[in-house]
Amino acid sequence: MKNFKNKTGLSTYITALKANGSSIGFVPTMGALHEGHLSLVNRVLSENDFAVVSIFVNPTQFDNQDDLVKYPRTIDADIALLKTVSDTKVIVYAPSVEDIYADNIQSQAFSFDGLEHEMEGAFRKGHFDGVGTIVKRLFEIVKPDTAYFGEKDFQQLQIIRKLVELHNLPLEIIGCPIYRAKDGLAMSSRNARLTQDHRVAAPFIYKTLNTAKEMFGTKSAKVVTEWVTKQFEKQPLLELEYIIIADIATLKPVYRKSTNKTYRAFIAVYAGDIRLIDNIALN
Ligand code: PAF
Repeated sequence: MKNFKNKTGLSTYITALKANGSSIGFVPTMGALHEGHLSLVNRVLSENDFAVVSIFVNPTQFDNQDDLVKYPRTIDADIALLKTVSDTKVIVYAPSVEDIYADNIQSQAFSFDGLEHEMEGAFRKGHFDGVGTIVKRLFEIVKPDTAYFGEKDFQQLQIIRKLVELHNLPLEIIGCPIYRAKDGLAMSSRNARLTQDHRVAAPFIYKTLNTAKEMFGTKSAKVVTEWVTKQFEKQPLLELEYIIIADIATLKPVYRKSTNKTYRAFIAVYAGDIRLIDNIALN
């Protein structure tokens, strides 16, 4: 498997592939790969000739240093997993911090038409500047035809679509359904850090989102979010940070439902010191 640690080597390799007419699909990751990532890579290979997977724990998108330090780093296991998908069609880019940032580990300031101020943006200061910085830089290095992102980070997906639109970047963004464990927990690299008790408690998040979806057919957003809040008050192992029902175009909370808009419920929950996010389409 081709595994590049610096952008120059990767760039030369990809330029040669593209000169031969090959299409390149891209999956940016922070490693600690799981079945959710593999489903994205499989999707890339069903729609493109090659899949580039970047593995880089991006320091500028962490508002919490402890989370950055403890973020799982499992590069050998990640490469072994990717080999199970394809040894020849998957290309890994696992750069050092210097390869990406040189000696200036800072994010650029972005405006994403206000999408960056909602939900994760309100609770994680500077997070989307960090995401915008790394994703734009990776797109410029990899120059993919398409890039694939999971809907678990739905706000991130919408922001990346906005990044591409506002900066006229020449690629297509493809959103992919949330990949869940059998018990409904959305797959996340952070799940590996849950204690056994918290892992058992965590599927309650998706279960509650499903009931919220049913309720949303007949009840207001206010009634539904208040109900969800009450359910979490009864859960000793899970602490709700937010539940927000928002319009997917603006990501602003909905106060009055409108039939021509599309809504999702977004949730962030602490299971011990692990922060989990999830969301569900409501209509
Ligand atoms: O979703 C992630 O894993 C990260 O935010 C991303 C897109 C790889 C940027 O670091």
